Amino acid sequence: MNEVIVAIESSCDETSASVCVDGEIKSNVIATQEIHSKYGGVVPELASRAHQQAIAPVVMEALERAGVEKKDLTAVAFTQGPGLLGALLVGTSFAKSMSLGLKIPLIGVNHMQAHILAHFIEEPQPKFPFICLTVSGGHTQIVKVNDYLDMTVLGQTQDDAVGEAFDKCAKIMGIPYPGGPLIDKMSKSGDPNRFEFSKTDMPDLDYSFSGIKTSFLYFTQNQTQKNSDFIEENKYDLAASIQRHLIGMLMEKLELAAEREGINQIAIAGGVSANSELRSTLISTGEEKGWEVYIPKFEYCTDNAAMIAMTAYYQLKGGQLSDLTASPMPRWKF
Ligand code: KG4
Ligand code: ZN
Repeated sequence: MNEVIVAIESSCDETSASVCVDGEIKSNVIATQEIHSKYGGVVPELASRAHQQAIAPVVMEALERAGVEKKDLTAVAFTQGPGLLGALLVGTSFAKSMSLGLKIPLIGVNHMQAHILAHFIEEPQPKFPFICLTVSGGHTQIVKVNDYLDMTVLGQTQDDAVGEAFDKCAKIMGIPYPGGPLIDKMSKSGDPNRFEFSKTDMPDLDYSFSGIKTSFLYFTQNQTQKNSDFIEENKYDLAASIQRHLIGMLMEKLELAAEREGINQIAIAGGVSANSELRSTLISTGEEKGWEVYIPKFEYCTDNAAMIAMTAYYQLKGGQLSDLTASPMPRWKF
């Protein structure tokens, strides 16, 4: 019998649905909420409302693009956490109604685990065990992946996520949310060695990104007092310099993790893995160190339901199902 899963992602500011048939992604529809850009970050209440408006049409479109009818579905999956409570509630409730209405199993998925399993959507796929640097707007983790559903967090940020640091520095420069992609783009025209910022060193494989963000804030405030056009006149060098620092911090701990664990299968996942400097640095460091490097396609880096569908497929095979009492877990750790 075919396993036909519809998956829903609604943890932050993307409403997404995907259909997966026997482990193969047939559709991946993503509706990005534009409303947050003028507020400099995701506004939770607005996110919930936008999910509520988008969810039914997005799910219907995912079914249509996959050529699948509701009656063909054999399971429904949803992001159970981590994420924004109100946003997660929309996906959770919608998935439960589908499960009840169609009498099919319900599968709650961990969003961070799903970012990692996005590597199994297409070839080439990493071999177990591998190390994955998971970098998003809410998380920064180094994970040892022993099997599809067996993962250990080796280190993580103790304060801000790296995506948050990108977005906050962008906001300081007057760039709309999400600033990460624009910092990346502007960096290509700037001198990465022009400015230095101070960073907090953390023990072992942990990270801290709040110190460098504050250093960036104080530096730009200080310079702006002397020249009110400082940011505008130096925006490309500022972008390139902060990006060099952030990517350098990520790579330092990733190299340490690979060395300590004696693993040469190295992957990146999550929104910040779309960053061009992280991608090129990973490739060059990989060549130097003899790593096999795995970088997801752009469309599977940022939030999407295809990764939720993929994870649900492995959970279904392993019998990891949810029941109708399942509720969102905004701070779910694995
Ligand atoms: O995984 P994701 O889509 O959502 C969360 O689960 O958080 O990640 C979003 C984050 C944002 O902070 C965004 O600025 C960052 O990923 N991001 C980037 C790039 N593309 C997305 N950061 C740096 N460079 C990029 N090219
Ligand atoms: Zn994410």
